[in-house]
Amino acid sequence: MSQRRRSVAVYPGSFDPITNGHVDIIGRGLAVFERVIIAVLVNAEKQPLFSTEERVRLIRQCFPGNPRVEVDTFSGLLVDYAQRVGATVIVRGLRAVSDFEYEFQMALMNRRLNPSIETVFMMPAESYSYVSSRLVKEVAELGGRVDKLVPALVAQELRARFPRRAPRRIGGGPRRTRG
Ligand code: PNS
Repeated sequence: MSQRRRSVAVYPGSFDPITNGHVDIIGRGLAVFERVIIAVLVNAEKQPLFSTEERVRLIRQCFPGNPRVEVDTFSGLLVDYAQRVGATVIVRGLRAVSDFEYEFQMALMNRRLNPSIETVFMMPAESYSYVSSRLVKEVAELGGRVDKLVPALVAQELRARFPRRAPRRIGGGPRRTRG
């Protein structure tokens, strides 16, 4: 049995919501690992835009009928979750140098907690290097287009959450006077 056949990777995150950058990383993970478990963090402190159930549903809809992709939720320590589901690898995406410090700290902390689980960093296509769930939500809320940055279903959900309003005049602005 090849190494790939045996390896199960966990791809953890908030996924609020899943972006095309995440989808890109999952594709890369599938090229290397036999199974990728997308693990959505249940974080009671944060106020997510999408509930855990909605985030899971949106991710599942991105990978219909793919037996090598699993979507799950987790709370508590990531390494404990990984061990429980039989994963030996944690996949994280690295978009830019600015991601590195936080990711490096997390990887080393996770290694200290459980040295048998390896963190593997993957880089998304350059075209997604600036895409984050946080910016996508902000742009959508302010009426900008995010169609190319998130899966179609996510764009649809964001449009439903943030219906486009006519731009408001600020400070009265110049008004047309009648003839
Ligand atoms: O998408 P995000 O928000 O950058 O993902 C962060 C995540 C979920 C990977 C991270 O917060 C995490 O692993 N949380 C679980 C708690 C944990 O294990 N903490 C100690 C390791 S640093």
